[in-house]
Amino acid sequence: MPRIFNPVDISQEEKEVRKDYFDRHTPVLICDSYATKGEKFKVKIRLGTEYTHPDDSDHFINYVQLWNRETFIAETHFAPGTLGNKPEHVEVDFYIVPGAVTMNLSAMSACTKHGLWQSESKEVAIRKS
Ligand SMILES: [Fe+2]
Repeated sequence: MPRIFNPVDISQEEKEVRKDYFDRHTPVLICDSYATKGEKFKVKIRLGTEYTHPDDSDHFINYVQLWNRETFIAETHFAPGTLGNKPEHVEVDFYIVPGAVTMNLSAMSACTKHGLWQSESKEVAIRKS
């Protein structure tokens, strides 16, 4: 079974020592805290707040997934060179139409060299239109 790098499981000391390594691989959810039932809701996922990830033929971000709790919602795949064969922040925008009362969103990303990485989760309240 692959190791999943989760921000909750990584100690603060390890995060500081390997800050660039963790930052460039960890997906971050960027979205509002409220969505409207039945209306499109934008969820941006960005890898790295400070450090960029390589986009080499043998080392690149292969895919990014969006989850609502344990339910898979969406994913996108990248080929090497998509970001110009230079270090960059991978960014993906998903548009979803919420139907539940709340969502607890999280993201997963996969690096071809450094495995699976999980974001922190984000609670989104759903308002009636
Ligand atoms: Fe990597």
